[in-house]
Order: sequence, then C-alpha cells, then structure tokens
Amino acid sequence: MCGIVAYLGQRRAQPILIEGLKRLEYRGYDSAGVAIRCADGMHLAKAVGRIMMLENEAALRSCDAGTLGIAHTRWATHGGPSVENAHPHTDASGKLAVVHNGIIENHSALRKLLEQEGVVFRSETDSEVLPHLFAKYYRGDLAEAVRQGLKEVRGTYGIAVIHADNPDALVAARNGSPLIVGIGDGEFVVASDASAIIAHTTRVVYLEDREIVTLTRDGFSTSTIDAVPTSKEIQEVEWDLEQIEKKGYAHFMLKEIYEQPESLADTTRGRIDIEEATAVLGGLRAFAKELTRAKRIILTGCGTAWHSALIGEYLFEDLARIPVEVEYASEFRYRNPIIEDGTVVVAISQSGETADTLAAVREARNKGALTLGIVNVVGSTIARETDAGVYLHAGPEIGVASTKAFTSQVMVLFLMTLFLGRRRHMAHHHAVNIIQALTRVPDQVRDLLKQDGHIEEIARTYKDRENWLYLGRGYNFPIALEGALKLKEISYVHAEGLPAAEMKHGPIALITPDMPVVFLANRGLQYDKIMSNIEEVRSRGGRVIAVATEGDEEIGSHADHVIRVPDVGESLQPLLNVVPLQLLAYHVAVMRGCAVDKPRNLAKSVTVE
Ligand code: AGP
Ligand code: GLU
Repeated sequence: MCGIVAYLGQRRAQPILIEGLKRLEYRGYDSAGVAIRCADGMHLAKAVGRIMMLENEAALRSCDAGTLGIAHTRWATHGGPSVENAHPHTDASGKLAVVHNGIIENHSALRKLLEQEGVVFRSETDSEVLPHLFAKYYRGDLAEAVRQGLKEVRGTYGIAVIHADNPDALVAARNGSPLIVGIGDGEFVVASDASAIIAHTTRVVYLEDREIVTLTRDGFSTSTIDAVPTSKEIQEVEWDLEQIEKKGYAHFMLKEIYEQPESLADTTRGRIDIEEATAVLGGLRAFAKELTRAKRIILTGCGTAWHSALIGEYLFEDLARIPVEVEYASEFRYRNPIIEDGTVVVAISQSGETADTLAAVREARNKGALTLGIVNVVGSTIARETDAGVYLHAGPEIGVASTKAFTSQVMVLFLMTLFLGRRRHMAHHHAVNIIQALTRVPDQVRDLLKQDGHIEEIARTYKDRENWLYLGRGYNFPIALEGALKLKEISYVHAEGLPAAEMKHGPIALITPDMPVVFLANRGLQYDKIMSNIEEVRSRGGRVIAVATEGDEEIGSHADHVIRVPDVGESLQPLLNVVPLQLLAYHVAVMRGCAVDKPRNLAKSVTVE
C-alpha cells in the first residue's frame, strides 16, 4: 500500500535509497526501513515515524560502500507500526532481505506451515512469510527462489529482494501493486512510483502482474512467475513530479475516487469464506460469542464515518436482526448513555485519531461496553484503544474529503453483517447471494467511473447555484447526507441531505427554479414514492438530477438529468450511488476554483473536540 525503492549500481546505495523514500513521503506512511548489502553482510536500519530518523542510523553509516540495497515506507495492514513490523524483513540467517507492498492473503496458512518447519517469526506482519519462503527455496539462485516461493503466495504484492551472498543481483516482482524499473547508466532504480526514479533516469520498464525481473550488473531479464520469459519495452516517463504523485490526476481526491475499484477489492481480500458463506474477520474472532449474543449495537463516528454508521444501522437491523442505534460521537459522550450488559459500541474512523470518536470509545469502555473499531490507519489511537476491530485496508487517504475510506467502511459493515448474520438468523443461500453481489461491486464501480464526463457536464450546468438539496429514502438516505456533505466541504456551497419524505414537512418551501435537487431514485421498494417526491419538486420549478437504475426509461421524462447505475438491490445500492455524487461535488468544486484537497477551515483529521 505504500512505497518501495531499490538500487543496484556503482554508486553508494544509501543516499539514493533515502532520497527515494523522501520522494514517496507524500503518500503517507507510518514507518520506514533500509537494507544494504555490504562486504560483511546485510546492514539493516528501521524506524517508526519520519524517514529522517533513518539517516542517522549507525547501521547504515557503517555500510558506506554498499551499492545494492532495498528500502520501504510502510502503511501497515497487518500488525501495528513498530520497529519489529517495519520492513525490510529477513530470513532466519539474516542474509535474505525483502520489502513488500500489498497484502498476502494466505499469510496465516503459510506462517503455520513455516512454523511447523521450525521457522521463528519476529513480526506480526503478513509480509514476513516472504523471506522465510524464499529462503526455503534458495540454492544460490535468488530469482529462482523468489519464483518458487511466489507460486505459493496468494494476494497482492510489489516486492524487492536481495541476498548478502549475491552482491550482483536484485530481484523484484509484482501482482496488483505497482512496480517500475528505472534503467540508468550502469545502474537500476526500482520503485513503486516513478517519483523516486526520475531524479536518476526517465527510462523505465513497467512490470505487469505476476511478472518478475532479475537485475544484475550486466542487464536485466523478465519472466512470468511460471518462468515464461517476457520481453519488455523501455519507455520514457513524461510526467513531472507533481503529476506522478497524483498519478496524473489533478487532485488526490479524484485519484482516490478512481482508486475505489481497487480499494474495495482490498477491503474484502482474504476475508470471504464462500463455503461457509460468511466473512473471516480475524480481529473479531476472539469476541465472536459476545458479538453473537449482543443485545444492542451502538455505531458511532463523525462526518462521513457517521454516514457509514447510518448505513450500518440498516444493514445490521435488516440482515443480521440486531437492534442498532447510531450516535454522533460528539453527542454520545455527553448524553450519559446507558450501557447495559450485551451492548457493543462500534467506532468508525478513517484516521483513528478523531478526538470526538476517541472520547466516545473511552466513555463506552469506562461503562463496560465491548468496543470495536472500524479504522483505516493501523495502530492509530482508536485502533489501539478498542477491544478489537476490522481495518479498512483502503490505503492512505490524502484528500480531506473522504471518498474511498467511506466506501470501504460500508464494505466492512457488510462483512460484519455477514459475520454476525450467519451466526444468528441469516440463511446460507441468502449469504451466498450477498457475497456474490459484493464481489461484483469493484467492477461495477469501475464502469460507473466512465460516466465522469457526463457528471462533469451536469456540474457545469449548476456550478453557480448556492443551494442544493439531496434526497433519498431507506438505504439511500445516508447517501443523500454524504452527497451533500461532499459538496459543502469542498465547494463551499450550501447543501442539505434529507429523507425524501421529509421535504413536504418544511424544506419544500425552499424550492425555486434556482434549486438543483439530487434524487436517489433507484427502482425498488420506494420507487413510486420517490417519483411523487420528484413531481413535488418539478411542479415548483426545481431542477432534478436523478441517480436512477439502468434501463429505467420512465425516469427520463421526470428528471432534467439522469445518472444511471446498475440495479444491485436495496442494501448494496449505497456503495454505487455515492460514486457519482463524489464526482459531482468534485467537479463543482474545481469549477468554482476551490482548493479541493485542502478545503478552507478543515483538517484531514480533527484531533480537537
Ligand atoms: C469527510 O469528508 C470529512 N472530512 C469529515 O467529516 C470526516 O469524515 C470526519 O472528520 C471523521 O474523520 P475520521 O473518519 O478520520 O474519524
Ligand atoms: N501488508 C504489509 C504490512 O503490513 C505491507 C504494508 C505496505 O504495503 O506498506 O506490513
């Protein structure tokens, strides 16, 4: 999820690696590490926090002459940020070192096997299985050992591997995580992102999934993991640094919106047991009994996280049949909440550092509740202070407006629904249907993103309007709130989200021809009612933008603009519907000249009450 830099050449590796890591800092990370091969063996340095800390490490200074090395910035997914968990990881001999980005899905099974063979693990990471696995197959040919090892690995990876006995070889491979080989004059710089390469060369080779590259002092060769040789074209990087950091997108927010097909897949990776039709959530296993017997669940969070909590309420009650309350974290604490035996409090937070949410967790714990976290940042305060939890695995989110973390929060709530539901009332076939539908979501989101141009046009039509309404019912009500929040926080336009039926109880007085009204109008249980609400708006001159079901011909004659999404059923619809609303808010903000990634008065994580 984070960064890799590796070097093989004639120059000192250390300053090149450190400089490369600094170039990757913009992506966010929690710890970093370097391994350099020297005449007397492998020199390793790791640090939690800033890369600067690494520069002073004696281990690196004592390895002045090394010209082969690997380096890593870590965004933890398995095991909190600590020196032990920081990469590079090594085998038992300390000679073979690996840096890894991504998630090894079958790490538990591999770890068990290796432990039976006598391997002693030193970290909690999924990544540590890699050096031990490669060492098992190592007979002097590093590339062959890596290839053999990777055949047993399921999951996503970008890796770079070196061995103390091989001063002239650097091996790298990828599957699902980016990896680029920079080809300099008598040297190679391998990195997860071109920003760490372009100071040295603009000539690069992009690795494909399941491809492995062997770099030596004489050149390089590539093959698939199954040993079929591949031929690569050397390409020129044409982007400047800023374009590379945002992968060519104009803003981090847009990049993160577009990352959702991958982040959603990462959230579910290795967590679905199709046979039993349930979710495998390691963090909750120890509390499964308590959770199954829970009498009431309180979901809490702030802002966007509170909106995902509202969807969680529908999911848990509807599909797992557990009574749920949703509470703003800031209100929970001061309300003197009643926590009885069997109450479980679930705190949702991207950053894991939000002061109000943390205060709610502490209040709940003091009152004896079992507390769980749904958090993106591994090892963050909320993750540490809750009894257990489920990480989002959405990767770092940099834009202040939360996008991919929101969809991953909803995905985790789905997984928890399966976990709880299957232990309570949910039938096997019902769960199978949900799982099949969930696994289609990443591709459906990818397809939806193709409507970006159409949504941009809608934004252009209404960019100067100062008041917007977002209306939805049922599962779509929280999406109305989220759509409105996205618009107001980044474009500084006033927007309100409401349950559609509430409009006639007051807000309808606001409707004029100047008011764009976004309706979540998918076909389903409430379709006819939503259509009546649309007519109420239209007859008062309001302009209607409808998010509607693909193939719904009728809606076209009722709405000024239609954004079409596939029909995925009531409960899953929010995951798709929110995507066009993220894009709509984004384009309006850009057209109004707003600072999309860093909106005024806002911080990415609100650590004050
Ligand atoms: C979302 O776009 C906002 N920036 C904000 O509402 C945010 O969701 C809220 O502050 C909670 O943050 P957290 O998820 O890091 O706890
Ligand atoms: N899953 C690995 C870990 O938690 C790699 C994380 C990363 O990509 O930075 O250590």
